[in-house]
Amino acid sequence: MSSYIELKNISQSFHVHSSKITLFNDLNLSITQGESYAITGPSGAGKSSLLMLMSGLDQPTTGQSSYVKAGISRTLDFLRADIGFIFQQFHLLPELTALNNVALPLKLRGDKQAINKALIWLDKVGLSHRKDHKPSELSGGEQQRIAIARALVFEPRFIFADEPTGNLDQQSATEIADLLFACCHENNAGLVVVTHSDILASRAQHAFLLANGALLDAQFKQTSTKRLG
Ligand SMILES: Nc1ncnc2c1ncn2[C@@H]1O[C@H](COP(=O)(O)OP(=O)(O)O)[C@@H](O)[C@H]1O
Ligand SMILES: [Mg+2]
Repeated sequence: MSSYIELKNISQSFHVHSSKITLFNDLNLSITQGESYAITGPSGAGKSSLLMLMSGLDQPTTGQSSYVKAGISRTLDFLRADIGFIFQQFHLLPELTALNNVALPLKLRGDKQAINKALIWLDKVGLSHRKDHKPSELSGGEQQRIAIARALVFEPRFIFADEPTGNLDQQSATEIADLLFACCHENNAGLVVVTHSDILASRAQHAFLLANGALLDAQFKQTSTKRLG
């Protein structure tokens, strides 16, 4: 039975000085494990805020959100152990080697196989030969590969990626998109990717546009997704 995240009639607004800013109103969205979703939209539309809400890291102003796992509905607090994040700025720990950055989420969970599993994931993202390098010794694309390995190493049910190719050149962006979709597919993880790139959005099974406070279905031409070999 697939797990899913459900947002119903979600609104988010902020009071800044004496004025009220409404990011979105009455938004409805379901995210199912194993499926891929893209969210596009102009800067400031509220895409990152929406990711924070659907991952349970922030609370909506009004509305209901739930995480349905094994047929049982719970609050989004129960998502915490089942999600991985990937950011535009990579967010690797600068003092740790590539290997230790990937192993960290497992070590924090007390996994005795942390290093072995991290080595397997470094191999999957094609960076075994860079395991002893620190982030500053790696290119942007290589750092994002490490971030993907780190997000997936503990086999989360959902991956949230906020503009994961925003800092990369076109070729690296294409390679990272291939890797991200292939890794999520291999792990049967749900993927939610926020992006300015229509090319990246076109790879997702479901695409949405967040603009003027509403989430709309968006159509992008489908392209094939490479699978891990
Ligand atoms: N906690 C907050 N308090 C006040 N304003 C906020 C808060 N979080 C986000 N915002 C504002 O909401 C708007 C949308 O932000 P964001 O979700 O980062 O948009 P996007 O990711 O689409 O560019 C921005 O104008 C931002 O300043
Ligand atoms: Mg953002």
